Amino acid sequence: MTNLKKIVALTGAGISAESGIATFRDSGGLWEQYDVMEVASIEGWRKNPQLVQRFYNERRKQLEEVEPNAAHRILAELEKDFDVTVVTQNVDNLHERGGSTKVVHLHGELTKARSATDPNLIIDVGYRPIEWGEKASDGSLLRPHIVWFGEAVPMIETAADIVTQADILLIIGTSLHVYPAAGLVGYADRKALIYLIDPNDVSCAGSNITVIREKASIGMEKLKTILK
Ligand code: OAD
Repeated sequence: MTNLKKIVALTGAGISAESGIATFRDSGGLWEQYDVMEVASIEGWRKNPQLVQRFYNERRKQLEEVEPNAAHRILAELEKDFDVTVVTQNVDNLHERGGSTKVVHLHGELTKARSATDPNLIIDVGYRPIEWGEKASDGSLLRPHIVWFGEAVPMIETAADIVTQADILLIIGTSLHVYPAAGLVGYADRKALIYLIDPNDVSCAGSNITVIREKASIGMEKLKTILK
């Protein structure tokens, strides 16, 4: 077996922007239209679960209508020459549809639902809406399989272990504003090479960082050339 170099890609909403999914914090982003605490927090769910359900039903419907873009596809193509793991904050499935085979979702997945009381009781819902009042097999309300503000991030330790092993860490399309995900960069080995792809200025502490200030598709093309 060849000993391929390990690439870990830490991705955020920006990698899916060119597919037509709005980011959160950019101008025109989702958190300009919606109050984040109303639709994406555990308090919001307790206060108005129907609103939250509707918000994620809309996101799920939109996901069915969009396609992975060149950035998702180039990242998947890197699997020919590298051992690539994607650690994403995104709840869309565009990495998988773009061909990536190892994807860790830190903040959950839109195409899944779970019991409101048992986080391990998870079902696939595809792109269909979760109807109001729909129950999981344990009799609890079915809720989106999303990690909301105010909730623990169950995959964070797994993700930290993965980042520790990276020879090359890619940071693509994330403002690094949300913890604990943003803190993962700090787990990179001191010898790891870090490439940050974002069209805007993102503050990221660390050494060995090469900034490619481009949209994800162009940035990934450039990265592909650099890595060759
Ligand atoms: P943000 O909206 O905070 O940041 C998006 C980043 O993408 C910014 O740095 C933009 O500059 C960049 N960007 C915009 N267009 C781009 C493009 N075409 N190519 C590359 N980058 C582009 O999104 P996240 O960092 O993903 O959590 O946000 C993290 C978490 O906050 C999300 O997972 C979500 C949100 O609230 C929950 O809802 C729980």
